[in-house]
Amino acid sequence: MTTPTLESTVKSLLASGKGILAADESFPTIEKRFKALNISSTEENRGAYRELLFTTPGLSEFISGVILFDETARQRMAHGVPIAIAVALAQRGIIPGIKVDKGTVSLPNFPGEKITQGLDGLRDRLIEYRELGARFTKWRAVIAIGEHLPTRTCIEANANALALFAALSQKAGLVPIVEPEILMNGSHSIARCEEVTNATLQSVFAALFEHRVVLEHILLKTGMILSGAECPQQADVAEVAETTLRCFRRAVPAAVPGIVFLSGGQGEEEATLRLNAICRASNVPWKLSFSFGRALQSPALKVWKGAPANVEAAQAALQHRARCNSFALQGKYSAHMENEKISV
Ligand code: 13P
Repeated sequence: MTTPTLESTVKSLLASGKGILAADESFPTIEKRFKALNISSTEENRGAYRELLFTTPGLSEFISGVILFDETARQRMAHGVPIAIAVALAQRGIIPGIKVDKGTVSLPNFPGEKITQGLDGLRDRLIEYRELGARFTKWRAVIAIGEHLPTRTCIEANANALALFAALSQKAGLVPIVEPEILMNGSHSIARCEEVTNATLQSVFAALFEHRVVLEHILLKTGMILSGAECPQQADVAEVAETTLRCFRRAVPAAVPGIVFLSGGQGEEEATLRLNAICRASNVPWKLSFSFGRALQSPALKVWKGAPANVEAAQAALQHRARCNSFALQGKYSAHMENEKISV
């Protein structure tokens, strides 16, 4: 077997009609998601849940890669041969990747703003992750919109961390997913979201350039341009698509091979509908795809509820969302598809 290059990994991740499943919730995040459904966040339950996701029949038809959390990359399958889940995914034709940041902490002197940590020791962890089977990495920076926020200091500090992470990943033979997430929380307008996303992306690409990151070997992960969740005037699907594409055209170099969307707290059908509208654009220089967490997983988690008897139904729910989003990538999704649930 030949070792995949950065270029071949990028190409496989961006395979037509396929997206990335983000299943890299940190301990506090998975605990929050489980708690809402009265599932206790034990190592066993987390392992069982992730195994359920990754062994969903037919998943590789719609999913090119999965982002794992550190714990998962080291876990073993419950019943089968004792191999790391990362390797098991690879055997199914899905590329394993890993979240390598260590979460956010408050940015000193800047109330309400965050900086992502995890650069210390990253070089060595990357070597270990590659040995565990990972072929790509992810680092998430968070930018909040509010009165007088974000500050230039917050944007630039996060952009620099993202660039250093990307440079280290490429040196380790791993494709970095560079993720600046502009949070939906707030009552801001869609115009303000566009302005902040534009400023953030300009800063991120300036930092990537300064750090000599090869743009052809990264993926950008960010949100759609949306009205703030509490904004009384919500932009419709057509405006979201138009504004998102305009923003990216202005801020994302054509050398970047692909932009993958996070879902960020949108309802799952809403996210698919907007993705569909955005992907209908034909004249863009990058491939567009999804890298959803909640918008792929939420229905499956609600069906599973921690009970082994619900595994098959939960897998059917995941397969359904993955299929709908795959159709959206081709601009072929319609609300009717929501009634065509499949059983696995
Ligand atoms: P959501 O799609 O739930 O926003 O998660 C995507 C992700 O990977 C956030 O880092």
